[in-house]
Amino acid sequence: MIRGLAAHGTITAMTTADHAPASDPAFSENAATRAKAALKRDPWDLPDVSGHVVGVLGGTGDQGRGLAYRLAKAGQKVIIGSRAADRAQTAAAELGHGVEGADNAECARRSDIVIVAVPWDGHAKTLESLREELTGKLVIDCVNPLGFDKKGAYALKPEEGSAAEQAAVLLPESRVTAAFHHLSAVLLQDPDTHEIDTDVMVLGESRADTDLVQALAGRIPGMRGVFAGRLRNAHQVESLVANLISVNRRYKAHAGVRLTDV
Ligand SMILES: NC(=O)c1ccc[n+]([C@@H]2O[C@H](COP(=O)([O-])OP(=O)(O)OC[C@H]3O[C@@H](n4cnc5c(N)ncnc54)[C@H](OP(=O)(O)O)[C@@H]3O)[C@@H](O)[C@H]2O)c1
Repeated sequence: MIRGLAAHGTITAMTTADHAPASDPAFSENAATRAKAALKRDPWDLPDVSGHVVGVLGGTGDQGRGLAYRLAKAGQKVIIGSRAADRAQTAAAELGHGVEGADNAECARRSDIVIVAVPWDGHAKTLESLREELTGKLVIDCVNPLGFDKKGAYALKPEEGSAAEQAAVLLPESRVTAAFHHLSAVLLQDPDTHEIDTDVMVLGESRADTDLVQALAGRIPGMRGVFAGRLRNAHQVESLVANLISVNRRYKAHAGVRLTDV
């Protein structure tokens, strides 16, 4: 169970791939057996991500800094990215815990897992410009397309369906997932907050990739990554932030989300 997992820090490695040719009937049988075994596998049996370098595009902002701080504090190697390398280096020095700063391109190039934490306005342009650097990388989109007017926050409707689906369209050679939408950047950055009491809804097309993202979320004390479907269901997860902003304004809180009975 994930609570035990978080408490004891025990996460096990995934099995390695079988390299037999797909045309071999024995291989197909093995693949079917493996697929069944994967379905039966404990969903909390997550891979070890501690050796992966995590990059944060837009890492000089509140969300990026907060995630960088929490992950680096948990022992993850983190590089924050910016449109200007010097801004990232200054922010990295402030964060400590071995965080490094670079321009967004170098951040993407040097990282295994790349969190996209730029504003919705700059989302498409940023990703288009980094397509090559992000090839083959596990991308985690946490962008919430929101508008604000005198009634408060409201969800925008991206043409592709969601920010995450836009990322998947723009980055066909990357492994795009979506997570970390519902976090409070204030709590993430607060050194007096020792646990972030929230679940993280993780979406993506590949179970291996969503497992990695769940494991990454689980590195942060108090946080739990929960699989929440494919990218076509990212819109409502991104949109929920408009509701959380209303909650926070009314109750002067930093509300998170907990999923019960899992
Ligand atoms: N804040 C939260 O609590 C929170 C929680 C969950 C998710 N998110 C999501 O995380 C993302 C970042 O939020 P934030 O509050 O950290 O935003 P932010 O501070 O406004 O922006 C983050 C960074 O992105 C860069 N940036 C600004 N405009 C840009 C543009 N047009 N193109 C490319 N880069 C640009 C800036 O870094 P440089 O100038 O150094 O390049 C900035 O420091 C948003 O999409 C938001 O929906 C935020």
